[in-house]
Amino acid sequence: MLCSNSVAIQNDREFGIPQSTEEKVSELIQRMNLDEKIGQMSQLQAGCGHIPDHLADDIRHGRVGSVLNEVNVDVVNELQRISIEETRLGIPLLIGRDVIHGFKTVFPIPLGLAASWDPQLIKQTCRISAQEAASCGVNWTFAPMIDISRDPRWGRVAESLGEDPYLCATLGAAMVDGFQGDKLSEKGAIAACAKHFAAYGAAEAGKDYNTVNVPENELRNVYLRPFKKLADSGVASFMTAFCDLNGVPATGNSWLLDDVLRKEWDYRGLLVSDWDSVIELSVHGFTHNDKESACEAVNAGVDMEMASRSYKHHLQQLVDEGRVDLPQIDRMVARILTLKFDLGLFDNPYTSAADYPALVNVDHLEVAQQSAAKSCVLLKNDNQVLPLNADQMSSIAVIGPLADDDYEQLGTWVFDGDPHHSVTCKAAIERLVGDKLDVRYCKGLQTTRSESCEQFSEALELAAQCDATVVVVGEESFMSGEAHSRASIDLPGQQVALIDALAKEGKPLIVVVMAGRPLTIENILDKADSILYAWHPGTMGGPAIADLLFGFQAPSGKLPVTFPRAVGQIPIYYAHKNTGRPVSDVNCLSMADIPERPEQTSLGMASFHLDVNYRPLFPFGYGLSYTCFEYSGIRMARQQVALGGQVEIVADIKNTGHCAGEEVVQLYIRDLVGSVTRPVKELKGFQRVLLQPGEQKTITFTLHTDELAFYGRDMQLNTEPGSFQAWVGGDSDARLMIDFDIYDDE
Ligand code: BGC
Repeated sequence: MLCSNSVAIQNDREFGIPQSTEEKVSELIQRMNLDEKIGQMSQLQAGCGHIPDHLADDIRHGRVGSVLNEVNVDVVNELQRISIEETRLGIPLLIGRDVIHGFKTVFPIPLGLAASWDPQLIKQTCRISAQEAASCGVNWTFAPMIDISRDPRWGRVAESLGEDPYLCATLGAAMVDGFQGDKLSEKGAIAACAKHFAAYGAAEAGKDYNTVNVPENELRNVYLRPFKKLADSGVASFMTAFCDLNGVPATGNSWLLDDVLRKEWDYRGLLVSDWDSVIELSVHGFTHNDKESACEAVNAGVDMEMASRSYKHHLQQLVDEGRVDLPQIDRMVARILTLKFDLGLFDNPYTSAADYPALVNVDHLEVAQQSAAKSCVLLKNDNQVLPLNADQMSSIAVIGPLADDDYEQLGTWVFDGDPHHSVTCKAAIERLVGDKLDVRYCKGLQTTRSESCEQFSEALELAAQCDATVVVVGEESFMSGEAHSRASIDLPGQQVALIDALAKEGKPLIVVVMAGRPLTIENILDKADSILYAWHPGTMGGPAIADLLFGFQAPSGKLPVTFPRAVGQIPIYYAHKNTGRPVSDVNCLSMADIPERPEQTSLGMASFHLDVNYRPLFPFGYGLSYTCFEYSGIRMARQQVALGGQVEIVADIKNTGHCAGEEVVQLYIRDLVGSVTRPVKELKGFQRVLLQPGEQKTITFTLHTDELAFYGRDMQLNTEPGSFQAWVGGDSDARLMIDFDIYDDE
């Protein structure tokens, strides 16, 4: 069906010549009255399955540019029909939805996807998510979330791509590619949204929505980096953050939104507020009322207001009073209309589900399984307890509150995921080895939070009768996500007690953790023989985990975040600064080493906590395989590199074990002296390599010296000549190092 009322098409017909999008947009704007323009700048909540009269009425009067949260394709088509056929100008709607880690087919949570360190695979998951969502009429997702997250208490760490700007930017760009395809107008492509601009993840104490104070230099070098990368790689939209940023809430922050995003970065896409974040400007104490909030947000550069209606109610008056410029409104409307043209909505705003692959089809499930498998991180594997050999066992106990829970394994942000499609660990293990093994199951605990240990005796009996125990513990999905932060990030309820008790049975004990964040799991480390960290793995989490447990695949995930030992270590991240008194194995002390009434001067004067080992529990980039990799021979053809030249670092990696495995080879750099201090290590590259037993490969990383640039004291991005170190290895603790220099030959 074509949209018969489309002004753009009429224009084409009148003039008989193809017009550029810019021309179409500007002609359309000339025909619009101020009311209609303000309407385009408003995004309203849908009725979720029906069209409330007030919404239909608003659309008919040209008061709506976008609707969010409608996924019933017939309802979406009707919304579009009203917008096309019953309005003066026939402008189609943007239909927004949080398609965060899948639509009907649910992939691992973004933090889990990030643990795959596999941009191609992540792109594929987003391609599928986009197709599934598009088949229901959605044309805009509010993803990826590229907020750097260095505080695992923050619930939205689950939705993030971790702590590192380079990893986050690389994977975020892959997500945008997946959602947007080669061209927004192609079938199955939807607009992506880089959110939340900016530094939302730096909320004090990890409490959602909390105040953020990040100095400009740190902001530019860390938090803004992924946003810059996505702006440059064509993400269709940005979303503002809820938080107060250095005293000016992000949604009203003209320095951030106008000076940096528009003027410095020349970003031309659409900028939407977060839900009600415009009217919340007054709650922050930044404005007096909604009218002032609308004024601040528009003048800062927010093109579209999500959910609240301060633009609708006050913009007209603000223009009349001369406090908001008409040309400013026109520029904003132009960005919204441009996206609608780019998406091809003026050609056809309607969706026919039959044009798309079926939802949750086998190919989608296959990618869901692959991505869940690659997301799992093997944290511990004593005596090579894993992989289990079904031929040498007769029974297995599958225990735990998350072993057979089809909903909880999906994680946060699953508006559209249907737990009926989930395959749990218990079901998958039965399917995989049920013909060879007696698979015995009990919950042990009702939920992850349960305090009652009444099911322990049954669990222990089962463990005693079986050859090995797999216990699936963690956090229920509601414990992470928006507004779901935690002060303690221990395994909740009596799960540690359950693991303690199972360990006493003396059978091989494999702990699988499903969680939305790094948990402080030092207290189970010596109880478990193996620990497999599965995050919330999505629809096909069970089969992925079963394949790994029984060695049909080797784990290859790597941590995208540092795992703390204790909450008191937070924030703990690998790319920290050195301080004037860095800690090392030599100068740190533990409480136990300190004599009674010690001399103050005899204590190690270094940067550490007395009561916890200064190292993290597991470093960023860490993850084991069923085989071992040996790194050697780090070298550079030239260790003196001219500014503007290429830095080439080469190293060898060998599979020294007995099975094939994939390794994520990581490159870290340190810039030893800078005009502002530099982190002790920074990720600058990674490659996934598959190695057969005994196989050796040579890995080359090539960087332009521009990739070593940072914002200095003058807030300009420059590579400063000087001495550097480079490490190649399997995690951020890599020891294989080479020095090099960059010189300026001008
Ligand atoms: C979240 C956004 C989300 C929006 C729409 C807000 O509460 O912060 O990330 O896209 O709701 O659902």
